[in-house]
Amino acid sequence: MQVIEARQLVKRFGKFTAVNGVSFQVERGEFFGLLGPNGAGKTSAIRMVYGFSPITSGDMAVFGLDIRTDWRRIRSRIGVCQQDNTLDPDLTVEQNLLLFARYFEINRDLARERAEQQLEFFALTNKRNARVMELSGGLARRLQLARALISEPDLLILDEPTTGLDPQSRYQVWDRLFELKKRGLTMLLTTHYMSEAESLCDRLLIMDHGDIVTEGRPRRLITEHTAESVIEIEGPSEELRSYIREHTIRHDDLGQRMIIYTEANGKMEAEIRSRFCMEACLFRPGNLEDVFLRLTGRGLRE
Ligand SMILES: Nc1ncnc2c1ncn2[C@@H]1O[C@H](COP(=O)(O)OP(=O)(O)O)[C@@H](O)[C@H]1O
Ligand SMILES: [Mg+2]
Repeated sequence: MQVIEARQLVKRFGKFTAVNGVSFQVERGEFFGLLGPNGAGKTSAIRMVYGFSPITSGDMAVFGLDIRTDWRRIRSRIGVCQQDNTLDPDLTVEQNLLLFARYFEINRDLARERAEQQLEFFALTNKRNARVMELSGGLARRLQLARALISEPDLLILDEPTTGLDPQSRYQVWDRLFELKKRGLTMLLTTHYMSEAESLCDRLLIMDHGDIVTEGRPRRLITEHTAESVIEIEGPSEELRSYIREHTIRHDDLGQRMIIYTEANGKMEAEIRSRFCMEACLFRPGNLEDVFLRLTGRGLRE
């Protein structure tokens, strides 16, 4: 069963088009990642999925229900962790969970039981009486995730869950998301961390300026748009440049740095290594960041 089926989804704000006819499906148990530079339209797109923002045109079914008419029922089955911290700063950790459970009309005893489970799952038990304003960024984010799960949703939507966190907190969040994945939860997430998307997501959609740039499994995107093997050469020589032109090798010339995409252990790689890699050469596998930068460019946004 498809959990989300979006067809030609459009979001306009006045004359401005934030999402320009985007179609995608998310299957049950799938972790689906939405990537794109700032302003690409990720938040606008996912807000339509949880019925926070009405669709301008197109069609969308969530759990087989029509978002236009059934958004209330859809919403009751979705857990959301928004991009901004939406916790109540004056309440304690536990109170935030219990209050949220009330919005879902979960009875008191059940709410306590679930809050307990979530506190434990996110290692927040010893912080239960701390007020939100006293929490570090990592703790607050874990609480936001815990809160999103209090209703035991069938779909979890996370908008940049790890942005702004220190590496330890980020790994802790990833670890919890992996655990949720093992349990079969369906998730829609946006992120700027390519390693997060690469390791966590089954499928990805890359957006830019409201349009789909590409879509597919992370491994496939890497082989399709970059290569198994990448060579980075600092201060490329003119000799290297003409060699690349001659052999029509896939590359990105960044002026001070040349990024070359080749087959791993191939003849080309060996030749470049012996002829052009006297110093300052880096050999590494192609990754999702290469794909992202190749497809959305290296210019600054917003
Ligand atoms: N409520 C709004 N009114 C007008 N423009 C908006 C509104 N929300 C978002 N936008 C614009 O839509 C574009 C996409 O924004 P957003 O969906 O937040 O992108 P992303 O989440 O990918 O960074 C941006 O140019 C943003 O300024
Ligand atoms: Mg956003």
